[in-house]
Amino acid sequence: MKVLIVGKGGREHTFAWKISRSPRVSRIYAAPGNPGMAGHATCVDIDVDDLDGLVAFAQGERIDLTVVGPEDPLANGLADRFEALGLRVFGPSQEAAQIEADKDFALRLMHKHGIPTGEFRTFTDPDEARGFVRDWGAPVVLKASGLAAGKGALVCHTVDEALRAVDRVLVDREFGDAGEKLVLMEYLEGEEASITGFTDGKHVVCVVPSQDHKTIGEGDTGPNTGGMGAYAPAPVVTPQMQRVILERVMLPTVHALAAEGRPYKGILYGGLIMTESGPRVIEFNCRLGDPEAQVVLPLLKTDLVDIMEAVSEGTLKDLEIELDDRAATCVVLASGGYPGAYQTGFAISGLDEAETGDDVLVFHAGTARRGGSTVTDGGRVLGVTAVGEDIEASVNLAYEAIGKIQFENAYFRKDIGHQALNRQET
Ligand code: AMP
Ligand code: GLY
Repeated sequence: MKVLIVGKGGREHTFAWKISRSPRVSRIYAAPGNPGMAGHATCVDIDVDDLDGLVAFAQGERIDLTVVGPEDPLANGLADRFEALGLRVFGPSQEAAQIEADKDFALRLMHKHGIPTGEFRTFTDPDEARGFVRDWGAPVVLKASGLAAGKGALVCHTVDEALRAVDRVLVDREFGDAGEKLVLMEYLEGEEASITGFTDGKHVVCVVPSQDHKTIGEGDTGPNTGGMGAYAPAPVVTPQMQRVILERVMLPTVHALAAEGRPYKGILYGGLIMTESGPRVIEFNCRLGDPEAQVVLPLLKTDLVDIMEAVSEGTLKDLEIELDDRAATCVVLASGGYPGAYQTGFAISGLDEAETGDDVLVFHAGTARRGGSTVTDGGRVLGVTAVGEDIEASVNLAYEAIGKIQFENAYFRKDIGHQALNRQET
């Protein structure tokens, strides 16, 4: 069969790598793809936001399955467009994708259906928001309600900071239309984990829990990024907690969406905080996380195409999904300066030397081909992933591999996996 992957980041490279291992797949296309994906796929120059172009390509090439990586095209209705034409697509409808695209909607849904999360209030008027913030106090989290490329959550430790955040979102419109509504959310205390659930709208299968490292600095300091690394399985999510999350969070959310006339098919990503009173949701995403994909998919033994087909046909309950019982770690190699301003165009060396055997995978996130060499072309440049017997082995292997890759101003965090490793020590 022919598969089209929509997207151009590390997550989509991981999809391309995983799907290329399916014996059922004869041809893979990527729109627009990246130089790493070009090793598995034919890259076609169609942007993820060009819905007409994507539909025309899938029809013209008779694509059997289109896999959508990022949230924007889903929130813009790509899956609806494909399904209306009888084209098979992996990813939720526009209405269902509101679980990520409208945080106010997601929180209202959770409260209405008793899904554990935090208290919240939504504002459009800055004066009203300021008054409420003064009464509420700090710490508190203020979020642009819409899609803000993962940068729309402002964790505020003082009331002054929160008042400034109100201005940034509602007055200065730093996040554009995503900040039309401002969501104030209770600050939840505890360790964070990412839950990846495949769902066909009725049944949910959660694969290995993972943990992202959102901040730029070691020891989880400094501003938030798209994610500086990840590992799986995250030991903070015990097997018993995994059951609780499936039964109290993931299944009820899928059923709530169905009850509201928004049946959900695809990957439902839950961002949860393991609080003293149990797991609580801080956000849902309508797609796989990045860089969580880079550690979750390598630990999936079952053919991903079989899973996607079962999701689309509503037969997930009949499919047995097998996981690798080892561990995976991904360390992101970024351009110095990121998440602020950074330079690009630096030649990257050591890519081939780093990928030894089946256990080290270098996923491209922000690279380009120029004059015969691979150069940096984004903030997050590469995701170096290693699979090992346990977290420690996978961490060591990932750092060994990253040591072989070089480019000017390269930056990476040296403490990916620290929470799991500290847990082992204690
Ligand atoms: P989000 O964009 O919603 O994933 O938020 C980005 C980051 O902000 C999360 O990974 C958390 O570290 C933090 N965060 C978001 N919401 C909360 C919350 N309610 N309580 C504590 N931290 C939060
Ligand atoms: N790594 C978090 C996200 O993809 O939103």
